[in-house]
Amino acid sequence: MTKAVEVKDLVKWYGKETLALNSISFDVDAGDFFVIMGPSGCGKSTTMKILAGLLDYDSGEIFMNGQNMRNVPAYKRDISMMLENYALFPHMNVYDNVSFGLRMLGKQQDEIEKSVQRVLRLVGMEGFEKRSPLELSGGQRQRVAVCRSLVLDPSVLLLDEPLSHVDYRLMRKLIEDFKVLHEEVGNTFVLTTHYQEQGLSMAETLMIMNTGVVEQIGTPEEVYWSPKTVFAARFVGDINLLSGEVESQRKGECTVKTDAGVFRAPVPRDGGDLTGAKVAYGIRPERLVLDATRKYENVVDSELDGFYFFGNLIEYVLKTSDGNSLKVTEPADATIKMRAVGKSIKVGWRTQDAVVLEKPSVIKGLDIDEVIYGT
Ligand SMILES: Nc1ncnc2c1ncn2[C@@H]1O[C@H](COP(=O)(O)OP(=O)(O)OP(=O)(O)O)[C@@H](O)[C@H]1O
Ligand SMILES: [Mg+2]
Repeated sequence: MTKAVEVKDLVKWYGKETLALNSISFDVDAGDFFVIMGPSGCGKSTTMKILAGLLDYDSGEIFMNGQNMRNVPAYKRDISMMLENYALFPHMNVYDNVSFGLRMLGKQQDEIEKSVQRVLRLVGMEGFEKRSPLELSGGQRQRVAVCRSLVLDPSVLLLDEPLSHVDYRLMRKLIEDFKVLHEEVGNTFVLTTHYQEQGLSMAETLMIMNTGVVEQIGTPEEVYWSPKTVFAARFVGDINLLSGEVESQRKGECTVKTDAGVFRAPVPRDGGDLTGAKVAYGIRPERLVLDATRKYENVVDSELDGFYFFGNLIEYVLKTSDGNSLKVTEPADATIKMRAVGKSIKVGWRTQDAVVLEKPSVIKGLDIDEVIYGT
């Protein structure tokens, strides 16, 4: 597979104080929808600006379509970036905004006309050419901003937090639009977000970043079901975590001693012998089962501590006798199964649904208990 982007050991300092990128490496396949997801300040925009050639870096290598970008200025890169605050020129109408880049490149009038019409049609904004950006809704402005980059037909389109200024329903709609658009145009998309819902639903490949480092790269399902670190596990969704120690390991399964009990889990795919290791034992709330019978390999006694109705699902919060809290979610059917706080209930789960996490993060020197139980 051709690589649209290859980043090797990229380091970026802002002055002497901030190490924004602490040697990150990743590859983006041509035609991929690659999403960089991580909390505020982790280095997403820094990475994007460096790829676009708008920002210098300290060390490392960047290749695009096999070519080293070291001395290639922004305007010579086959890449186009939609900035975080997608500012459109307010004094120009939609047509002039979208055609701006092509005019700068000195393209012919009829070619510009054709390209602008094509991208406006792709995002459902044909007929809006004469409107001022001030006369558009937030979502429409967003789409025009995307057009402005897309019209250049770059081999790589960089979208830095394109969905951060819209309300929830519009965000859901734009997620669909972006996916359809990506399928239709076939260019490589690199998009950043700090919302799990956006990353999981749009990405073909998902990269989880933490302050200046890459925690994990994989398909959304891989990261969700086989996270490599506590940080990655938490960043893609809710997970119950218990601090524990691996007591024994055989035939692909390990036994983990926690304060709430001794539980089993599959050995992580690339894990060696973990016997004696301090680990986090994790299980997603939707994989816990209430009123568990003995057929579940892992069962624990608990009490109901609270419940929350979210429309499509119900979340029960349970307390185990040692004071650990467990979240259980169930699809919301007509009734809430239990409302009496203090009610005893057995919770169970299958061994294959649990994960053992050896590391709190790829960042070295963190204490696993502090990461599990800290805020
Ligand atoms: N121009 C700058 N000068 C100094 N420090 C900067 C500069 N730009 C960013 N930083 C710092 O570098 C780190 C990474 O910032 P960056 O903007 O890449 O984060 P981000 O992941 O895009 O965050 P957000 O989700 O808030 O947009 C942060 O600690 C930030 O404060
Ligand atoms: Mg940013």
